[in-house]
Amino acid sequence: MSALTKVLEEDIVRVESEKRNRISRDRFRLGYHIMPPVGWLNDPNGLCWFKGKYHVFFQYSPHSAQGGLKYWGHYTSKDLINWEYEGVPLVPDSSYDCHGVYSGCAFIEDDKMHLFYTGNVKLEGDYDYIIQGREHNTMYAVSGDGRHIYEKSCLMTNSDYPKHCTCHVRDPKVWKEGETYYMVQGARTKKDAGEVLLFCSDDLKNWKLENVITSDTPFGYMWECPDYFELEEIKILSVSPQGLKAQEYCWQNLYQSGYFKVQGDIKCDYKLENFTEWDMGFDFYAPQTFQDPKGRRILIAWMGMPDIRGMYENPTENTGWQHILTVPRELAVKNNKVCQWPVKELERLRKNPAVIHSDEKRIIESGMFDLISKIPEDAQSYQIQIGRDMEFTWNKETVQLSFNGDEGAGRKIRKARLETLNQVRILGDTSALEIYLNNGEMVFSTRYYPVKKEAEILIRSQSTDTIVWEMDGVSQQ
Ligand code: FRU
Repeated sequence: MSALTKVLEEDIVRVESEKRNRISRDRFRLGYHIMPPVGWLNDPNGLCWFKGKYHVFFQYSPHSAQGGLKYWGHYTSKDLINWEYEGVPLVPDSSYDCHGVYSGCAFIEDDKMHLFYTGNVKLEGDYDYIIQGREHNTMYAVSGDGRHIYEKSCLMTNSDYPKHCTCHVRDPKVWKEGETYYMVQGARTKKDAGEVLLFCSDDLKNWKLENVITSDTPFGYMWECPDYFELEEIKILSVSPQGLKAQEYCWQNLYQSGYFKVQGDIKCDYKLENFTEWDMGFDFYAPQTFQDPKGRRILIAWMGMPDIRGMYENPTENTGWQHILTVPRELAVKNNKVCQWPVKELERLRKNPAVIHSDEKRIIESGMFDLISKIPEDAQSYQIQIGRDMEFTWNKETVQLSFNGDEGAGRKIRKARLETLNQVRILGDTSALEIYLNNGEMVFSTRYYPVKKEAEILIRSQSTDTIVWEMDGVSQQ
């Protein structure tokens, strides 16, 4: 370990121990969602199962709740419920990543965790930082436990990316097919179009450009955090595009996250089908997936958004921390639709089931709950209110999540089209709501900041069967 690495690591241990106690008393700390020990969190990184544990790394700025220099923080879990904080294995300690250890992935082979990420370097000078002044290096690190790195090197620099790209090429995701390794990276072209670069390699170290994947007509100026996988024969290219114009029923956040179904072969002759958003709520970005030993494809996303200042906020900034991750969601194809559902393990946190009748207020003291409404086929509408200001309604083909006051901290309204509604599941945590419709065919995720700690739930929908469980909080040490 270099002297600089040691200094950076010790500095974080100091910052964390200074701030941790005060932050842990914040009443908006979550019961069962992953959050940063202190400071700022964004994208999930390096999701994997390795040596008997799930590993979740995340973009972490421990020094400031407003973000800043990025490190990789690290949590592990044996059960996808209880999480143990393992420290900061990747720090910006080299000339290739000195301004941020940006997003990336873990690829497991030969009992080793191979980590790929973007090393961010911002040159000093009068630059636009789009076509000049920024280095995005493809970095490689190896670990035997996820906590200690014993090899770190730069595999590609901007000169290795196609000439038509700006400096913005980042967020590698690696997988293997047959004997060949593949890597996708998100890119912004000089003509301001988002695209994905596909590389291939025989040895994980030497990479060559195999294809450039993009839409027929430009779809935003940048695609961040790409991921590619097959789900029951459906080929999915997930990206987080920036620069789409908001419409009444879609693309309402500043940036989007969604997927294209891919026809053909991304290596040569492909066609991207319509883009579907992963989540219609206020707080969702940069998802990443991995396959666990049970064969499940699990998605975790940042339950937050970049650059939201002036639109909405998170009051926890004032207590020294900000943002969380979604719960792990299992992906499955149902009626040809890609659905997301909280991993089954979370049901172990349920206790004290109770029925909720329409127009009867139910209070969950801890603010943590799991609720399922079954909606009869002939129903024309459904409405649920949580806390003082949050209202979720479905009314003949339109679903709407809205906040009518301060509890949304500036969040106002998100709408989507949905022809029929037969089921609503809501995971409520102290300051987070994940709303799953029709077995996860559509999801709305949002942060909220209720005045009272307890969750007040009120349903207005005759003949709907609703059951609610309290949820236990878990340890996140
Ligand atoms: C997405 C993103 C990534 C980048 C990381 C930096 O939120 O902008 O493209 O690698 O965050 O923190």
